[in-house]
Amino acid sequence: MTKSGTTIGIIGAGQLARMLIEAAIPLDLDLRLLAASSDDGAARIWPATEIGSPDDPDAVARFAETCDVVTFDHELVPEPVLVRLEAGAARLAPSASTLRIAQNKQRQRELFAQHELPQPRHRVVRTAVGAQLAAETIGYPVAVKAAYGGYDGRGVWICLSEAGLMAVVAGLEQRAIPIIVEAKVDMDREIAVMVARDDAGRTTVYPAVETVQIEGICRQISFDVEHGNEEAANLARCAADVVGLTGVMAIELFESGSELLINEIATRPHNSGHHTIEAVATSQFEQHLRAILNLAPGSIEPRTRAAVTVNVLGGSDGMDPRERLALLESGDVHVHLYGKAARHGRKLGHVTVFGADVDECAERAWRAVETLTNEQRPEQLR
Ligand SMILES: Nc1ncnc2c1ncn2[C@@H]1O[C@H](COP(=O)(O)OP(=O)(O)OP(=O)(O)O)[C@@H](O)[C@H]1O
Ligand SMILES: [Mg+2]
Repeated sequence: MTKSGTTIGIIGAGQLARMLIEAAIPLDLDLRLLAASSDDGAARIWPATEIGSPDDPDAVARFAETCDVVTFDHELVPEPVLVRLEAGAARLAPSASTLRIAQNKQRQRELFAQHELPQPRHRVVRTAVGAQLAAETIGYPVAVKAAYGGYDGRGVWICLSEAGLMAVVAGLEQRAIPIIVEAKVDMDREIAVMVARDDAGRTTVYPAVETVQIEGICRQISFDVEHGNEEAANLARCAADVVGLTGVMAIELFESGSELLINEIATRPHNSGHHTIEAVATSQFEQHLRAILNLAPGSIEPRTRAAVTVNVLGGSDGMDPRERLALLESGDVHVHLYGKAARHGRKLGHVTVFGADVDECAERAWRAVETLTNEQRPEQLR
């Protein structure tokens, strides 16, 4: 069957691409993937997949020639690839300039400072000695971050003392990666807001959620209709404007007393928005597609009072959670598995439970995850 309209290309074929496909099907969008391997989660389910490295400028440029709009499954797009994409005819959503900010924590910090958006006290340095001085000025404990290249907490270290700091920053100095030294925020909780924006600046801001990270990996997301947060919504809107967003973006925030500080942004669908598939009238994935095509934004009315999403991380026995689906006692758990090979600690999927009360949703979601992975609910989340 021939397709009409706009061809969307997605670079990368992980779980975000896979969930974008799910959202594209009812709209019958013409979608193509560039996957590193035919084993990638999204490549496994989508016939219009081309195999080629998302890091190879030639492969990406050839792929983009077949698309009208190009979007991304991750923001770590190498500069040579961005340069080639900018020179091509396909429209990039988000734009190359937005991606250059999103993939670099130093550029994020500089841009937010320029617009006087609240963030942790920080210094950007290039040497171990510089980091040592910065940490002394800011005061221990500090959070040390690689300006780029990290994800899931890799590239972030909490340093309690100079000894700990020096162990971390020597490697960064050697690799010539700028080092961000920032105050370790004594926070009450972490929250995240998803925001969508199209080229015309039409913006929708999803209700805030609370996220819990353990060892830098997001484990649980809680949505409670009662916990609206207007200030977080305003910050999300401002951040989307200043980065010139097209598509959806997550903004991660630290809440400390009455203060909200920006941790970072990710200019793509994000783990902290997975609950929107069930809990909100329009999922973050559909909203991303709508925004990049400049279609009218979908409603973001909540469909439930509360929802909890828990990530399914590979268990220590290496068992594939698919093997345990039959053990789930309740069908009221929405399971999303990403088609990835099981490995200890790897994000293999998530489950979402919705209902009237967050605690009760969390209880049911964790029971399901314990069954799927044979791992216990962490102490700090009980
Ligand atoms: N200044 C800080 N003070 C206290 N904790 C922090 C600070 N910066 C980061 N953290 C903790 O480390 C986690 C990971 O940090 P960050 O989000 O910057 O890393 P990342 O690897 O880019 O994450 P992601 O998985 O979202 O890509 C945060 O969610 C938070 O729990
Ligand atoms: Mg983060």
